Amino acid sequence: MKTLCLYYTRTNTTKAVMEKIAGILGADLAEYTDGRDRSGFFGYIGACFATVKNTISAVSVKGDVDLASYDRVLIGMPVWAEGPCAVGRALIQKYRDSLPPDVYYVVTHMGAKRDYMEKIKAMDALLGRPSSGQISIRTKDNDYIGDSADFAASLK
Ligand SMILES: Cc1cc2nc3c(=O)[nH]c(=O)nc-3n(C[C@H](O)[C@H](O)[C@H](O)COP(=O)(O)O)c2cc1C
Repeated sequence: MKTLCLYYTRTNTTKAVMEKIAGILGADLAEYTDGRDRSGFFGYIGACFATVKNTISAVSVKGDVDLASYDRVLIGMPVWAEGPCAVGRALIQKYRDSLPPDVYYVVTHMGAKRDYMEKIKAMDALLGRPSSGQISIRTKDNDYIGDSADFAASLK
């Protein structure tokens, strides 16, 4: 099965998760971005604002990637402001017609308080069909690379 792992990352956590998953699945790996510098304090505030107000206007996958040529795509994204980040949501909305039938959401979040699964599953409304699977991976005080490996193993 030809698999693509996509990720958006601000501080490289989601990148590490998707690298691990791609390694286990023998998948291709590509980054997507809205082209904005979201580093530092103002980047953090801007990310919260973009997620709450849903203001992402431009998102694209880096490199020459033909989404439709894959059997399965896993979309990695962090949680921002209590839900999947606006950049990931914009990606799903923009490419919904090019994505293969099998789409998985791989979401990273810091806290133990919530797993955000309700909001993660709600992204199916943007995709326009049910996703094939979802995982919410906690990063703080947790072996999140181990959790990523377990998830990848479940997809083999
Ligand atoms: C703007 C912003 C808002 C965040 N909001 C939350 C949140 O509501 N809940 C949570 O558990 N983690 C939250 N986080 C933490 C990230 O989801 C977590 O650290 C994630 O793994 C970072 O991924 P990255 O390094 O790939 O960017 C937030 C991070 C940022 C930058």
